[in-house]
Amino acid sequence: MKIFFTVLGAAVAFFLTVAMIGLTDWDRPPLAVQQNGYRGTAMAQVHTREAVAEKKEANLAPAPADPAEPGDDLAGTTYENVQVLKNVSVNEFNRLMVSMTEWVSPEQGCTYCHNTENMADDSLYQKKVARRMLQMTQHLNSDWKDKHTGGAGVTCYTCHRGQPVPANIWFTDAGPNRPGGFTARNNGQNLAKSSVGLASLPYDTLTEYLADKTIDNNVIRVNSTTALPTTKGKPIQDAEKTYGLMIHMSEGLGVNCTFCHNTRAISNWSQSTPQRTTAWHGIRMVRDINGNYLEPLTSTFPPNRLGALGDVPKVNCTTCHNGQNKPLNGAHVVDAYPELTKSTETASATPPAVPANPPTMPATPAQPAPAPQ
Ligand code: HEC
Ligand code: HEC
Ligand code: HEC
Ligand code: HEC
Repeated sequence: MKIFFTVLGAAVAFFLTVAMIGLTDWDRPPLAVQQNGYRGTAMAQVHTREAVAEKKEANLAPAPADPAEPGDDLAGTTYENVQVLKNVSVNEFNRLMVSMTEWVSPEQGCTYCHNTENMADDSLYQKKVARRMLQMTQHLNSDWKDKHTGGAGVTCYTCHRGQPVPANIWFTDAGPNRPGGFTARNNGQNLAKSSVGLASLPYDTLTEYLADKTIDNNVIRVNSTTALPTTKGKPIQDAEKTYGLMIHMSEGLGVNCTFCHNTRAISNWSQSTPQRTTAWHGIRMVRDINGNYLEPLTSTFPPNRLGALGDVPKVNCTTCHNGQNKPLNGAHVVDAYPELTKSTETASATPPAVPANPPTMPATPAQPAPAPQ
């Protein structure tokens, strides 16, 4: 009998172990570890090599179209109703139309944006939205180049990935659909939402921090800047909202907190990685996209594209990054499309200037010398 139970126990333990390794989301070696801070600071990204390879495969940038034949005719003079790409040659213009179709509506084709009886006609909302998207893309590749989009740049594909509606968009959360109950005032919390990693954190942090161009520059900061309190400080609820946003940013980029922070001094800029500065500008860039480009299109979109509260679909870090620290494996996607790298907007439409630098945080106070033994 004793032998029977020993064998049974061993068999059960064996199968449970196999199930644990084989079925759950267990990080099977070999691992790919990338150090991103000084030695000894435990600032590293740990992924399985398999996951890294899968992610790379899922984020391949499409090959650029063959270069256009040279030609002097300009789209603005040849066609009837070209407003943004006026100074682009007709050949280059047509090449871009073909690429845009591949990037945004490969199944629907030109007719997704055009009334093919008359290509100059603006009756489809898709064409009006696409025109604004052209200006937005030019703006992202020019005015945000130094601060965020860098050498890689963005094309329509960065967000759209072959679909008219990008996979990662969001709307303001209308909140729970119940009038009262045990936790009538839930403080915006305790409703699992994927944007905050299904944690019990405030579920509408994206609206709070990314929806609008006029959001206060210091709203995300919650750490005190002095060793002892000098003012009342921010409530714990604000810290929870900040954490919610940080979880979104980490998941959007497929990294952990130490990609940007040295967690012994989260708010300290001098101990943070350069990527944190890029991320700081990224937050402002997303507010610019949502506030200056998408929000004004509210009445252009048909009602079925709007959220429960009638708000436009919006962009967050995941829309471009899709789980990678550099979208599309860091490919320089815009090099082959110079017409998407120059802003053609008139001065009045240009959003307010980007602040020069992230606010400098006071340095960590010097540590007192250790007491003599
Ligand atoms: C995702 C939307 C979209 C798709 C798909 C698209 N276009 Fe366009 N097209 C536009 C926009 C926006 C303009 C206006 C550009 C501007 O104002 O600078 C335009 C303008 C044009 C014009 C100029 C018409 C005129 O007389 O003013 C032609 C020609 C054209 N497109 C051809 C095509 C062809 C051919 C295809 C398919 C291979 C195509 N487009 C696919 C959005 C699109
Ligand atoms: C920063 C991300 C981003 C980039 C870059 C981008 N788009 Fe969009 N686009 C969006 C979002 C978000 C929407 C709203 C989704 C929706 O319509 O529900 C959208 C909507 C559209 C729509 C309307 C789709 C529909 O049926 O509602 C068209 C057409 C479009 N984009 C064309 C373009 C073109 C063309 C380019 C490149 C010149 C481009 N987009 C670049 C994010 C982007
Ligand atoms: C991609 C870079 C990035 C990642 C990843 C990241 N953060 Fe942040 N974090 C920032 C930036 C940028 C700010 C400053 C935002 C601002 O001031 O507008 C910030 C601010 C903060 C603050 C407020 C600091 C202050 O001054 O009060 C806290 C707390 C914080 N992060 C915690 C976290 C935690 C916890 C994680 C992991 C879940 C994380 N962060 C992941 C970039 C990042
Ligand atoms: C319009 C598309 C777009 C959006 C939206 C976007 N990014 Fe980026 N981001 C990029 C591109 C493109 C790069 C690569 C730049 C380069 O190659 O130099 C990048 C690079 C970065 C990097 C540097 C990565 C590295 O390894 O050096 C960080 C950090 C980053 N983004 C954070 C963010 C955060 C946080 C958000 C949301 C608040 C965000 N981004 C939203 C396009 C975007």
